Amino acid sequence: AQVEKGGHRHFMAKEIAEQPTVLGDALAHYLRGDGIELPQPGLDFADFDRVVMVACGTANYACVVAKYWFEQIAGVSVEVDIASEFRYREPPIGPRTLALFVSQSGETADTLAALRYCEGKAAKIVSVVNVTESSIARESDLVLPIRAGAEIGVASTKAFTCQLTVLFLLALQAAVDRKRLEPDELEANLNNLRHLPGLMNFAIAQSGEIAAVAKSVSEARDVLFLGRGAMFPLALEGALKLKEISYIHAEGYASGELKHGPIALVDKTVPVIVLAPTDNLFDKTVSNMQEVMARGGKVLLVTDPKGARAAADGCWKTLIMPEVPPVLAPILYALPAQLLAYHAAVAKGTDVDQPRNLAKSVTVE
Ligand code: G6P
Repeated sequence: AQVEKGGHRHFMAKEIAEQPTVLGDALAHYLRGDGIELPQPGLDFADFDRVVMVACGTANYACVVAKYWFEQIAGVSVEVDIASEFRYREPPIGPRTLALFVSQSGETADTLAALRYCEGKAAKIVSVVNVTESSIARESDLVLPIRAGAEIGVASTKAFTCQLTVLFLLALQAAVDRKRLEPDELEANLNNLRHLPGLMNFAIAQSGEIAAVAKSVSEARDVLFLGRGAMFPLALEGALKLKEISYIHAEGYASGELKHGPIALVDKTVPVIVLAPTDNLFDKTVSNMQEVMARGGKVLLVTDPKGARAAADGCWKTLIMPEVPPVLAPILYALPAQLLAYHAAVAKGTDVDQPRNLAKSVTVE
């Protein structure tokens, strides 16, 4: 097993470390010259009035990030739902709906059932999968592989960042189809993407520092993750990762919603992890963070060098990520969230790759 783990102690550690490489491969697969090349039969987003995205677990959070991208970059209206709700609530779907299913395994029973529902309503079925020999891939009109390679750890890591990458490319394509993006803007976005693997290496290089923070986090009973905009779904994913493998109760919240409930939980024993790259919402996130600190909360601020200069004062700890174009921050900041969960689980001595009660792929309802 040591060989398969490539010298890592767990598959999860190996899969986290692989992200710069697999993401680079995925990009190489989808980028041709100065444009995006999608698999055939292709898509024209001008044919659709709206997009619905359906998935479970981590894949669902990738969809929520993508909603921000599709709306902001392409002006497309997007609805996201978890498959187990979507399949039973009889949502109105028609031929001008693009139905997008995201699944690492391609076999999740609820996601497959939601796909069949949309197929019955004559929607265009597109899937974003890792396993291309899967039921969801087979039953789709168009399959976009994420090319992450086999993912063994039950907690999804590299599949998440590769899902995000493919969904970002799709949002760019939608913007091109809908004439919302000039060629030079497309090129700038693609260049930014090409720099991501390098930035990810910087994030991974901080694994030791993250492990030290994770040791204290592992002693907490409850942990809050906060973010705004596309960092909000990342807060949800960070909390999911932590609870899945360390069994610590964690919740992700939109920073602006803090005052409507979760702030009641804050005291000096609750680590509050604030995911805050310096984007246009940074100041608002910081003011929410200060509300936490004013109530004695211990804040772990994850930000870039500029954000740390502006806001690290009074924080319990600060983790500094390299500067990244704000639109791509959810992909980069997934890594410290994964590493934090990983090291907290290792510190607690849980079964990181096979956490209790969870399965890699849920093929029964
Ligand atoms: C299970 C796994 C999660 C995964 C979810 C959806 O709960 O433990 O890691 O995100 O299923 O799986 P899928 O294969 O559809 O992405």
